[in-house]
Amino acid sequence: MSQPCAIVTGGSRGIGLVIAKRLADKSDMTVTICGRDSERLESIRHQNIQGLVCDVSREKDVLRMFETLDQSDMVPAVLINNAAVGIFGSIEETTLEEWETVQAVNVRGAFLCTRESMKRMRQNGGGRIINIGSVVSQKGYPRQSAYTASKHALLGLTKVTAVEGAEAGIIAQIICPGGVDTEMVGDARPDLDRTKLIAPKDVADAVMFCLQQQGNAITDIVPIRRRTSQAF
Ligand SMILES: NC(=O)c1ccc[n+]([C@@H]2O[C@H](COP(=O)([O-])OP(=O)(O)OC[C@H]3O[C@@H](n4cnc5c(N)ncnc54)[C@H](OP(=O)(O)O)[C@@H]3O)[C@@H](O)[C@H]2O)c1
Repeated sequence: MSQPCAIVTGGSRGIGLVIAKRLADKSDMTVTICGRDSERLESIRHQNIQGLVCDVSREKDVLRMFETLDQSDMVPAVLINNAAVGIFGSIEETTLEEWETVQAVNVRGAFLCTRESMKRMRQNGGGRIINIGSVVSQKGYPRQSAYTASKHALLGLTKVTAVEGAEAGIIAQIICPGGVDTEMVGDARPDLDRTKLIAPKDVADAVMFCLQQQGNAITDIVPIRRRTSQAF
């Protein structure tokens, strides 16, 4: 008999790992996390979490991950498209290779995982797809052209997922945090005081809030800012 499971892409560290642990602790589902670094995945020992090596930008990796789940009779009930890379610099400094790397992981990866999940969710009465966007899904910050374009694209993908999935009971939402205290920010913005950033657990709270929504009305874009921030 098939078992519902959750997939958290980029679940080996940062926000994704905190979301994966929360899902594993608060639901009956097995949580599959993926990333490129096999050693890091193997180092995560947590009940109900399994790691699969998968570079989401590579179609054959994504197909293999879903085939592995099929073979274990696991059906994706929840997909969290969290994997992303940030390469930061002005438009004039950004190389084509950097631009394409960011779009390949952040947009193509989310598309491939969404496509493979939707096929299975449609046959199994629906599911939930939550994309981890960013404040730059809606705003434009300097030195973030490739990343900002990718997060705007993820917002567009979310909107289309929501309308194409509605009849099949597939609900798509996007969470758009400001700066979160993870390695990504530490690497990109060493000038920031990390104690003033949002905690990864706050993003996990928003994911659980979205998953708990069962009614006809739905919150589809969830912005997250620090309580003390004046910016809307
Ligand atoms: N940190 C922030 O301030 C912030 C703010 C708003 C939104 N976000 C978003 O939140 C999400 C998580 O960010 P984070 O700060 O937690 O990042 P992070 O600490 O850099 O973690 C990124 C995760 O994605 C995985 N990953 C990267 N490239 C991948 C690929 N090609 N295939 C599969 N997995 C891949 C990484 O594992 P491997 O390296 O092993 O592949 C890692 O598990 C991202 O979507 C990010 O854009 C972050």
